[in-house]
Amino acid sequence: MICLGIESTAHTLGIGIINDKGEILSNKKHTLETETGGIHPIKAAQAHELFYDSLIRSALKESKLTMKDIDLISFSQGPGLGQCLRRGAVIARSLSLLYDIPIIGVNHCVAHVEIGKKLCNLKNPVTLYTSGANTQIIAQSNGKYRIFGETMDIGVGNFLDNIGRYMNLGFPGGPKIEKLAEKGSKYIELPYTIKGMDFNFSGIQNKVRQLLEKNSKEDICYSVQENVFAILVEATERAVAHLNSEEVLLTGGVAANKRLAKMIEDMCKQRGIKYGICPRSVSGDNGVMIAWQGIIEYNSGKRQKIIETEIDGSWRTDDVNIIWNN
Ligand code: ATP
Ligand code: FE2
Repeated sequence: MICLGIESTAHTLGIGIINDKGEILSNKKHTLETETGGIHPIKAAQAHELFYDSLIRSALKESKLTMKDIDLISFSQGPGLGQCLRRGAVIARSLSLLYDIPIIGVNHCVAHVEIGKKLCNLKNPVTLYTSGANTQIIAQSNGKYRIFGETMDIGVGNFLDNIGRYMNLGFPGGPKIEKLAEKGSKYIELPYTIKGMDFNFSGIQNKVRQLLEKNSKEDICYSVQENVFAILVEATERAVAHLNSEEVLLTGGVAANKRLAKMIEDMCKQRGIKYGICPRSVSGDNGVMIAWQGIIEYNSGKRQKIIETEIDGSWRTDDVNIIWNN
């Protein structure tokens, strides 16, 4: 079985094609970026409209397939920005109706976890899912992915992007902060904002704004990474200890950060447990994870009528029933 997945929750439009063995046949994406300033949802949605045709064509070309070879269409049904989600849903419904292919809407966050499990060969990990809009510590329990800890305000990626904006680094700021941090060495004290399993970033963000005048960008970026990633890894370790877990998965766009990956690695090595860092090509938003999620849900018996494919911008990870075999 071959599935074409459409990702459009935010600034990335992704078209992925995968088969039921988990072999990635194509992974095409277009991400809206800026030199300075942030991203407006309407601009992102407009970009999706402009790029879907060429992305689908090039994904089919790369995988040497035509639409006739596609057995399933899947798309991100939520959570995400309404304007962006709606574009992806319309494309998915159109393809489904035009080519008479079954359609499945999937939860974006759950898809991040499942593709990571598949490619890192993990069975039941505690997942640190760190992206732009979301930052959650997720583990399976009683048929659902439960949130054991999460950000109380913004996602860690958006936090890094905001700091990048203060420094005029453009969007996305995360990768640029990583580069600057490599050249920093002086740790500047920042608020360590974790309570139990939950954490927040806006206090640190305000503090960084104040520090910008008197400190180098490099030292600030270094300190931000050390501080914030320690918070995330501490909460993850607590979940691991509580659940007696033997595996950890790091995924989401921020998983591309080598310093964060190293901290997860160190924690897991100290505990003598297995860990997986989701490969970069599928850790940020992408169509492949949506396609894979479509396949596992379809193979577990899920079917959807067009009328059931309305988007849900605030669909929570722990609202999804895990019907597939794990
Ligand atoms: P979601 O919808 O799941 O919240 P998203 O739309 O924000 O995801 P992702 O591609 O998962 O998209 O993540 C993008 C985020 O990852 C951005 O905030 C970006 O700054 C951050 N990021 C990407 N690479 C790095 C890096 N090397 N270091 C730190 N942050 C990074
Ligand atoms: Fe995402």
